[in-house]
Amino acid sequence: MVDSVRQVVINSPLDMHLHFREGAMAQTVIPLSSYSFAGGVIMPNLVPAVNNFERLTGYLAEIKSIVGEDLFEPYMTLFFKQYSYQELEQFKPHILGIKLYPAGVTTNSENGVAAINKTEATMKYMEELGIPLLVHGETHGFVLDRERLFLPIFEYLADKFPRLKIIMEHITTAEAVALLDKHDNLYSTFTLHHLIITLDDLAGGLLRPHLFCKPIAKRPEDRAALLNAAVQAHPKLMFGSDSAPHPIDKKEACGCAAGIFTAPIALQALVDLFEQHNALDNLQAFVSDNAQKIYGVTPPQKSITLESTPYKVPEMYGEVVPMFAGRKLPWSITKVNNLI
Ligand code: NCD
Ligand code: ZN
Repeated sequence: MVDSVRQVVINSPLDMHLHFREGAMAQTVIPLSSYSFAGGVIMPNLVPAVNNFERLTGYLAEIKSIVGEDLFEPYMTLFFKQYSYQELEQFKPHILGIKLYPAGVTTNSENGVAAINKTEATMKYMEELGIPLLVHGETHGFVLDRERLFLPIFEYLADKFPRLKIIMEHITTAEAVALLDKHDNLYSTFTLHHLIITLDDLAGGLLRPHLFCKPIAKRPEDRAALLNAAVQAHPKLMFGSDSAPHPIDKKEACGCAAGIFTAPIALQALVDLFEQHNALDNLQAFVSDNAQKIYGVTPPQKSITLESTPYKVPEMYGEVVPMFAGRKLPWSITKVNNLI
């Protein structure tokens, strides 16, 4: 007996943590997101960083020109530095939030924050103006402990600035998930890959550079805690792929760049994952509705239809190797409908 083809429709999926890069790489990767997503939060860790008006407007113009006719809203972020109240007032209509990187913890974060206590004036202004703070929450401790060691800083900031929305980006540990229920103003994004892989997939056998990212994949218990919260679509969490493309020569190298490229396969893999956990009913909240409520945004109206027919993931997109390269996923995107 042949199984009949099943369908899943997702309305206005959002990717709330996304690296688009610039130039040729942006030309390759932006259309892959703007085709199947209705919007995304664009990370500012370019060289030089997106931390002034000229960079912000120039980058937005580049993104819009590549997005073209696709219905896709780029939600822009600024790279955290000390900004004055007046600067932030001017930026506010053009950004969704400000992204804080501790100095040196990940790709292009060298000019990030070296001392958290020097950031508080800016955070106070952000709290007053209602600008969310997005944080890459890792220290310079032992690599598996970096996120856990950062959690007291999240708690400190959450208490000190109770009206500031703080998003714990791409969290990977059970302890971080637990904080969502402890502080009203803490939220988080989850990636696809941290719901699927553990450190074993990266380094338990032959080293898999295309699964190397920051924060590094953790233990099975951590993945289980993330998965449990994701499939329930915990209202304080949002999907954010952290899709982070690097050219193959930077990944298959001595000194592999951190970042996993998932944007073009994210929706297909999420449908598969949620189906396996009998949670398809919660996927809409996880990939769109929660983010709309948390950030108060209304994305372009667009519906994406997926069907249970296999999708063979390409080996490469331009110079970038995606997660699941060359493998078959059980779901394909078959239709994109613009609803306006
Ligand atoms: C990201 C990148 O390549 O820009 N890398 C990663 O491993 N996730 C930066 C980041 O989000 O940490
Ligand atoms: Zn990222």
